[in-house]
Amino acid sequence: MCGIFGCILRTGEAASTIHEGLKKLEYRGYDSVGIATLQGSQLFIKKDSGKIDSVHAIHNLEALPGRLGIGHTRWATHGAPYKENAHPHTDCNNQVAVVHNGIIENFAELKTELEESGHVFRSKTDTEVIPHLIEEKLKEGLSLVDAVREAVKRLEGSYAIAVISVKEPNRIICARKESPLVLGIADDSLYVASDIPAFLSKTNKSVIVQDGELVVLSDKGYEIRNVIDWKLVTREPEVIDWAPEMAAKQGYPHFMLKEIHEQPLRLRDTLRLQDKYLELMTTFLDRAGEVFLVACGTSYHACLAASYLFSKLSFLATHPVIASEFVEQHGKSVNIDSLLLVVSQSGETADTLDAVESARLRAATILGLTNVVGSTLTRVARVYIVQQSGPEIGVAATKTFTSQLSVLSQLAIRLAKKRGKVSHVEIEELEENLERIPDIVEGIISGSEEKVKQLAKKYRDRCCFFFLGRGMGSAVAQEGKLKLMEISYIPSLAYPAGESKHGPISLIESGFPVVFVCPKDSTHKSIIGNIMEMKARGASIIAIIEKGDEEIKKLADDYIEIDTKLPEVLSPIPFVIPLQLLAYYMALERKCDPDMPRNLAKSVTVK
Ligand code: AGP
Repeated sequence: MCGIFGCILRTGEAASTIHEGLKKLEYRGYDSVGIATLQGSQLFIKKDSGKIDSVHAIHNLEALPGRLGIGHTRWATHGAPYKENAHPHTDCNNQVAVVHNGIIENFAELKTELEESGHVFRSKTDTEVIPHLIEEKLKEGLSLVDAVREAVKRLEGSYAIAVISVKEPNRIICARKESPLVLGIADDSLYVASDIPAFLSKTNKSVIVQDGELVVLSDKGYEIRNVIDWKLVTREPEVIDWAPEMAAKQGYPHFMLKEIHEQPLRLRDTLRLQDKYLELMTTFLDRAGEVFLVACGTSYHACLAASYLFSKLSFLATHPVIASEFVEQHGKSVNIDSLLLVVSQSGETADTLDAVESARLRAATILGLTNVVGSTLTRVARVYIVQQSGPEIGVAATKTFTSQLSVLSQLAIRLAKKRGKVSHVEIEELEENLERIPDIVEGIISGSEEKVKQLAKKYRDRCCFFFLGRGMGSAVAQEGKLKLMEISYIPSLAYPAGESKHGPISLIESGFPVVFVCPKDSTHKSIIGNIMEMKARGASIIAIIEKGDEEIKKLADDYIEIDTKLPEVLSPIPFVIPLQLLAYYMALERKCDPDMPRNLAKSVTVK
C-alpha cells in the first residue's frame, strides 16, 4: 500500500515535483521515502526511513538534478521500515532504479536464482528482485523497455512499478498488475502515480493503466502496450472533475477534520447521482436470488447498516460480509443467482477484490459502490456508482462513510418503491428527509464540536472504551469504535448492546467509559435498559442522543445532543458525526497524527 510517483518535465528539475507528488500520496504509507532522478547518464538517489517531512528536513529531497525521476512513499510489507529497505531499489551497478507498490509473491525463488548468478542484494524487500531481473536482461542486450517486459513476465503477485535507467535516460517505464496506476497528461509534462490527487495540481487529464499493461513515458508522450501480446493500446485521457484544492487542507490542521466538515457539501453531491445507474442497481437487487453486502473496515460498517435498511424498507434479506472472510464463509454457495453489492471507497482493497473475483468465477452478479473513478472495482462490476465524495486523503474514512450510507439509503428507498412495500406518502417523506440530511449534518458539526472537544479532554486517559448500540445504532457503534481505535490507539470494543450482557459486561468497573448510540427509534426502550445495566456496574455513560431526550439525559454522565427528527432508518448518518469528532479530538489530546495513524494506510492493496 505504498505510493509511487514519476514525472518527465519539458523544463525544470523533477525532484521538487516528485516531492510534492509524494506528499499527496503519503496517506498510502509513511514508513520511508525515496527519490531517484536521471541527468545525462547519471542516476541520483536520496532515500531514508521516516515520514517525508522529516526525511526532507535531513536530506533535502528536492536537491537532485534532472528533469526526469521517480519516487516512493512506503508502507512496509517485506522488510522492516529501515533505510536499506526504502525505495527506489537498484541493480548491482546502480544503473537501474525501481519503485514498486504491491507484493511479489515469488520473490524468494527469484532472489535465490539471481544470487546464484552473482547478484548482490542490499535489502530484505521483495521489490529488489525487479532491478536485478532487469539488469539480467539488459546484460543480454535487450532495450530497457524489453528488459522490463521480460522482468515483469517473471513476477507473480501484485505490482505497480516505475523504472528508470542510465541506459536510456529520457524515459520512464511503468507496468501494472492489480496495484493501481494512473497517468497524468499535461502539455509540457507527463506523470505516473498510484492515485490521481498526486498530480491533480498539475493536470486533471488522466489515463488509467489497466492490468497487464506496460507504459513508456518519453518526450514523445505515452505509449501503452499489453505485456503478453505486445499489442499497442490506444486510450485517450479522461478529464477528472476534482478541483486541485479538493486534495488540499484548505486551512484545516488536518485532512480528517477538513473531510468531517466537508460532509454537508459531499452529501449534497451524493444526492445528485445519475438516476439510471441507481435504477439499474435497484432492478438487479430486486431480481437477485441472494444478496451479499461485501466490504472491509468502515465500508463494511456501511454494509452492516444497509442490511437493516434493505430489510426494514424493501423487505430484502441481505448478508453483510467482511470481505476477507467471504471466500471461506460463502465461497462454495455462491452461484448465478447470487449478487454481491461491493462497497469500497478506494475501489482497490485487495481483500474486497479477492471476494469479487471468487464470486465472478461462479457467475455471480457484481454491483459496485466506490469513490474512485476508474478504480479496479469499477472495471469488475456489472454496474457501479461513484459516490461523489471527492478525494479522501485522511486515512480514517469519514465523508466516504456517510456518502456510502446515503447511496445505500437511496437504493433501499428505490427498492421499497419498486416493490410497493412502503406507501407513497412514506416514500416521499423518506426522500424529503434524505434531502434534509446535509443541513442536519451541518448543524450537528457546528453544534457539537466544542462539547466533543471537552469530552475528549475529559476521557483522554481512559485505557479502553465500549461502544454500544441497538439495531442500526449497532453499526454506528462499530464505526465509532473503529475511528477511535485507528487514530487514537485506545483499545475499544463495540457490540450490539443486547450482546454486552453475554460476556463483555465483565470488563465494566468504576469509570469505564461506555459510549451509547441512542436514536429515538424502536430500540430506545431497550437501550435504556442496557444503560442501566452498565451504570449499575459504575460505567461512565456517554450518550449520543436525539435533541430533547430527557430520559437518557438523566442517566448519562455526559451526552451529545443532536437535532435530527429523522426516521430511524436514516439515523446512522447524523449519529456517526459526533463519534468521528470524538476520535479526531481524542487523537489530538493524545498527540497522535489523525491523518497518518501508525501502521495504517489509506488503501489496503495487499491481501
Ligand atoms: C477506515 O477508516 C479505514 N481506513 C479502513 O478500515 C477502510 O475502511 C478499509 O480499508 C476499506 O477501505 P475501502 O473502502 O477503500 O475498501
